[in-house]
Amino acid sequence: MVSRKTIVANWKEHPRTAAEARRLFDATMRLAAGSPHNDVIVCPPAIYLQGAGARMAEAEKEKALPSNFALGAQDVFWENEGAFTGGVGPKMFHGLGVRYAIIGHSERRRWFGETDEIVNKKIRAALGGGLTPIMCIGEPREVRKKGIAAAKRYLARQLAYGLKGASKGRADRGRVVIAYEPIWAIGSGKNDNPLDAAAIARFIKAETGVTKVLYGGSVNGADVGGYVQSEDINGALVGGASLKAEDFKKIINHS
Ligand code: 13P
Repeated sequence: MVSRKTIVANWKEHPRTAAEARRLFDATMRLAAGSPHNDVIVCPPAIYLQGAGARMAEAEKEKALPSNFALGAQDVFWENEGAFTGGVGPKMFHGLGVRYAIIGHSERRRWFGETDEIVNKKIRAALGGGLTPIMCIGEPREVRKKGIAAAKRYLARQLAYGLKGASKGRADRGRVVIAYEPIWAIGSGKNDNPLDAAAIARFIKAETGVTKVLYGGSVNGADVGGYVQSEDINGALVGGASLKAEDFKKIINHS
């Protein structure tokens, strides 16, 4: 039997209204309830997290909160409080019921100028603030074209910088989840080959000592099985296909 998988929904900057967010959140929570053999983590835009946390508290009161369901942020600032306009720190998120934070997504690196050093600060702050980081790494197409060995060298560098100070083998490192998302596979419909993704997942585990590695990049209901059937890949980080409950349901059903 394939072991338990973690399916993370990264909504990115969607949906546009709070009403739509609430509908999608409720539908996703129901899907998690119907799939107790998976763990489901939903990461809505920050502005919807308070409402989502409140929905979970309501569900808990009604004894309808699935124990395999959790809330994540898409990013986190590295300070918990202070004169940092626009910043939202780990402890603020934690207070709303958030337990995970995606950190270092390639879109943050591209559009918000995040460097490995910034990613590292965020990882350490998230761990200190009680959040489990879901650290994203991934190589650009030019690198992958040179082969798997070149991709591994690129990823090793991201891992070494990003995880500096979250010491290997210690509880801190054990709590970090790594999402391998080749940049060229994100939103492109061109997924990585599951065997290559599994080899890279093994490499990430050997390199870092983390125990949970997810694959992300154009995952949908038809292809998710190829990844999660590998014992090396512990789940999926899903963008576009997490925005419609019927698409996300297919992913959960095939995991
Ligand atoms: P897509 O599933 O839309 O390719 O996005 C992947 C992703 O970036 C998840 O973080």
